Amino acid sequence: MAVGLPSAELVGLDFSQRQIDDGKATRDECGITNARLLQANLLEVDDSWGQFDYIIAHGLYSWVSPEVQAKVMEVCSRNLAPNGIAYVSYNCNPGWRIRGMFREMMLFHTAGLKSPADKIKHARALLDYLASYAGQKTPYGAMLQREAATIRNADDAYLFHEHLETNNQSVYFHEFMAQAHQVGLMYLAESPIQTMFDVDFDAKTTETLQQLGSGNILHVEQYMDFLRNRTFRQTLLVHKNIHLTRNLDWRNLLPLRIGINQALSCEPHDVSGCEATEYTELPSGLKFTVTHPGIKAALQLLREQSPQSVTFGDLVALAKATSRSSENIEEVVATQIYGLLAMGVANITIEPWLCATSVGDRPKASALARKQAGSADPIITLRHQHTNRTPSFLWRLLQLVDGRTINEVAEAIVADAQAGKLQIKREGKPIKDPTDLMARIKADLPTHLGHLREMALLLPH
Ligand SMILES: C[S@@+](CC[C@H](N)C(=O)[O-])C[C@H]1O[C@@H](n2cnc3c(N)ncnc32)[C@H](O)[C@@H]1O
Repeated sequence: MAVGLPSAELVGLDFSQRQIDDGKATRDECGITNARLLQANLLEVDDSWGQFDYIIAHGLYSWVSPEVQAKVMEVCSRNLAPNGIAYVSYNCNPGWRIRGMFREMMLFHTAGLKSPADKIKHARALLDYLASYAGQKTPYGAMLQREAATIRNADDAYLFHEHLETNNQSVYFHEFMAQAHQVGLMYLAESPIQTMFDVDFDAKTTETLQQLGSGNILHVEQYMDFLRNRTFRQTLLVHKNIHLTRNLDWRNLLPLRIGINQALSCEPHDVSGCEATEYTELPSGLKFTVTHPGIKAALQLLREQSPQSVTFGDLVALAKATSRSSENIEEVVATQIYGLLAMGVANITIEPWLCATSVGDRPKASALARKQAGSADPIITLRHQHTNRTPSFLWRLLQLVDGRTINEVAEAIVADAQAGKLQIKREGKPIKDPTDLMARIKADLPTHLGHLREMALLLPH
């Protein structure tokens, strides 16, 4: 966040001296100057810490004692600027009631063990054992198998902190909000926002949900958790005296920017005219069809600019220029955007992202992303998202894009290949000849650098 928002001032707090020291070492190595990292007990935070526009408590609330939980809420209120937004993530019920069963079984099984490594090993073994033998054809067996699969794919750190540490308290959304109300906070929204929409329900379910919710957003959210068996929430809170408008009016989009989350491809590729164009969003596979030429032009602009966002005004102006009808084009574009938001395809931001819209002659990634690419840490994009950590040629390339020319990048890859650090293949066989290698790398580099750009890993030039 400090890299992506260079004019923001960030303060990070953790009780653990080691985590703070690690963070400081990374920060200093990467030349980040706008983040202060402080070792402190949250219980000591008072008014002298000042007020913040955003307070982010991620992975904290459910994993601390009730006393610290209450303090999280207090800080989110007392240290939040009048127009600020607080983010608190937590494990929620009913989903965690079920997941918690597995946690309790793993805790029982590993109670006598001391080292985290032993606990992790034996906890994994228990789940595998249960999943393979417990009533395979029963709903309980199916549940066990699902949970074992989730944990099998999770890394050791997740398994240990989520399932084997002392504190992990899950709450119902209404319980969490009751605590928020006590300190003068109210519900703003959920992050990611698409979970607030009901696109996954059929008409009858939505109708009953509206009746049950009776116009109270907190009730609607609670019943949606019951329907979805939700396990995790990322709730946004604001001071209770803020005036909120919840209707999705096109005018609310006027000061904002729109972006699309992932690759949105379309068929046919010629999107002019009124014929139906089918859009597919990867990797979800979600499909939707558009016939309106103005909307198609707006979507084309979003695709071209992605991962960067575009102002609502620019989208409307383009849609207006492309469609020849006299309808209220602002409303038509806004309806499409709200639809994309509900599907999780679009995102809305206030500021442009600090990322490149073209590769340029001297592609450059942040020092942080380059460091992460060379480690086992997750790589964080300039849109503050995690990328897939699967070992890949791309991550070696990411380490190299430090503002040197594309030719110099190619030379470094040839040197790597000659030193046996990586293999460049043709028809399944490693290329050995340096001239051949260089030709192949130069031919492929634009595509690979394009991927880094699309993933919001390149800085503007
Ligand atoms: C589950 S970890 C999450 C860390 C990080 N926020 C994340 O999402 O990766 C919980 C963190 O809360 C910190 N913590 C627990 N109690 C605390 C307290 N009273 N004051 C400050 N930090 C605390 C722990 O040291 C630990 O690093």
